[in-house]
Amino acid sequence: MASSKVPNMQLNSGHEMPVVGYGTFNLFKENEVRDATRVALEVGYRHIDTAWVYKTEAEVGDAITPKIQDGSVKRSDLFITTKLWNTYHHPDDVEEHCRDSLAKLQTDYLDLYLMHWPFAVAAEDKTAWILSESLKPSDIDYIDTWRAMEELVIKGLVKTIGVSNFNIQQLKRLLAADNLRYKPAVNQVEVHPYYTNNELLDYCKQENIVVTAYSPLGKGGAAYTSQPLPNILEDAVVTKLAAKYNKSPAQVVLRWAIGRGYTVVPKSVTPSRIKDNLEIFDFALTEDEIRTISGLDRNFKCVTLDKFKDYPEYPFTWLSTKK
Ligand SMILES: NC(=O)c1ccc[n+]([C@@H]2O[C@H](COP(=O)([O-])OP(=O)(O)OC[C@H]3O[C@@H](n4cnc5c(N)ncnc54)[C@H](OP(=O)(O)O)[C@@H]3O)[C@@H](O)[C@H]2O)c1
Repeated sequence: MASSKVPNMQLNSGHEMPVVGYGTFNLFKENEVRDATRVALEVGYRHIDTAWVYKTEAEVGDAITPKIQDGSVKRSDLFITTKLWNTYHHPDDVEEHCRDSLAKLQTDYLDLYLMHWPFAVAAEDKTAWILSESLKPSDIDYIDTWRAMEELVIKGLVKTIGVSNFNIQQLKRLLAADNLRYKPAVNQVEVHPYYTNNELLDYCKQENIVVTAYSPLGKGGAAYTSQPLPNILEDAVVTKLAAKYNKSPAQVVLRWAIGRGYTVVPKSVTPSRIKDNLEIFDFALTEDEIRTISGLDRNFKCVTLDKFKDYPEYPFTWLSTKK
């Protein structure tokens, strides 16, 4: 099995994270993620990104476990991330919820556990689907949730903790909380050439928080809308650079991200694309080319979860005031 040639990034927890991970959000066929994760491991991915709410943790576990058992990969060489869902923000729920993810992933520790969103959701059935009408706002403070996540590190269930979809104000408030035992090591947020997210990236860099770009190919949220989405992979700036380097548009976009200094978790269930998305370390874009791609920014955010726009701590306030 291919061993990973992907560089690592140092986290403020002292652990290292491979800069390219394999994303596993997928709404489609049963076992598709299991089979695709198997391919991802075979072509050299060692960082896998999932979430409780994706309902793909068990399939990720089903891909990883046989590879560990047959000796083709060691658990210690893997970097497994999953995320705490919004209906489990109450501090009393956090450990049990994490243990549920551990059981599904068939592992006894997580490399990274992220609070998936800053806002909490109340629901009689906490397993209700994300678009269910039964969900209601909750006033649980993400700082209280964070303190419960800190306990998971102390108990050895989780090596590193971080957040996702936090804006600058929310990060500042978290960092200013009294007696914080751990700073967030990672903020996983949307970044791609049509949504360059510069201010948040600069703030995270200043605070030594590693950014992981989700929807790095700009294709998130397609399953939730019938609107045609702009296709970065057909943008003339990107296709021209792809021709220059004899690479695919996706490889150029991912290389741009790495050149800007953050980490990415592209998702594909197509074996040839899974492989391509990792083969981005045999070329580099010039500073000018990185700037040119960054100039494509059009503040186009694919993942908005606007169903939650009136919830306290919905993070994309500029979207909620626009609607
Ligand atoms: N924290 C959060 O709130 C959050 C939100 C969204 C996503 N995420 C994470 O980020 C991961 C990636 O984001 P995403 O799935 O939204 O979007 P994405 O990675 O930007 O795009 C995925 C789409 O791009 C296609 N694709 C992949 N590689 C390609 C290539 N080389 N050439 C052409 N098309 C390609 C895939 O098609 P095929 O699969 O058909 O090949 C899929 O339709 C998720 O899986 C999840 O792990 C996190």
